[in-house]
Amino acid sequence: MRVVKTVAELRQQVKVWKSEHEKIVFVPTMGNLHAGHLALIKHAHTFGDKIVCSIFVNALQFERDEDLQTYPRTPEQDIEALESEDVDLVFMPEHDEVYAEKHKPKNVIPKHPINQELCGEYRPGFFDGIVEVVARLFDMVTPDVAVFGEKDYQQLVIIKLLVEDLSLPIKIESVATQREEDGLAYSSRNAYLNPQERTKARHLHAALMHVKTQIESGFKNFEALEQQAMGQLSLAGFQPDYVAIRDAVDLGNPAYATDSIVILGAAWLGKARLIDNLLLQMR
Ligand code: PAF
Repeated sequence: MRVVKTVAELRQQVKVWKSEHEKIVFVPTMGNLHAGHLALIKHAHTFGDKIVCSIFVNALQFERDEDLQTYPRTPEQDIEALESEDVDLVFMPEHDEVYAEKHKPKNVIPKHPINQELCGEYRPGFFDGIVEVVARLFDMVTPDVAVFGEKDYQQLVIIKLLVEDLSLPIKIESVATQREEDGLAYSSRNAYLNPQERTKARHLHAALMHVKTQIESGFKNFEALEQQAMGQLSLAGFQPDYVAIRDAVDLGNPAYATDSIVILGAAWLGKARLIDNLLLQMR
């Protein structure tokens, strides 16, 4: 496994692989890898030949400097984990390498109203920062396929829009959320939970499951279900930002004829802001 820090080294290796007709699969991460990331990499192997993984803590998607400073960084452990998952290349650039003017993609990056909704409403600039870095990384890696987790569902929808808007020849694949035994979705931010909070954390998944079960049994007053779930989370000790039931394709308000919906939730528990979602087929 090669570990490279510069765009020049990355491009040189990718060029060799492309000349050998290898299909390149890209898994972007911010490091501190957990079972969720490892599932992305396992799936990545099924989508192509050479796996490129990036580890880059993107300052542009952090609202508060404090959060950026304390974001867990475990580079040695990450490299070891990627090595054992047969990753071919790890790209670990510094901030100035990614954001060098010469590495700005030529395409103008579009901004959609959905960037300001749901998590975007509570974390201003968050999705603009993600779109900016993903567009740059796509331009550097030029993968055939890129893999993202469904846990960050809004991010996944926004990245699909980016690829569509820029007509990038990249197939976006998604992998189902990986969960601990009690239902809590794996996340680097779970490290901020103290033992008591960790015990309570399962209530986020439970609240969304409760919404799902009620919809499945025919209850269709979505607004009432969202409010009920928010109340349930507050009672369990969370400070909920939102629970929202949306169309799974574009995150719009679900129309009567919607095929699939997604139930999304974001809530603070102590210092951790947890997010989760559940998909539901309507027919
Ligand atoms: O999902 C993440 O880890 C990040 O948002 C990403 C896609 C690597 C961009 O920094």
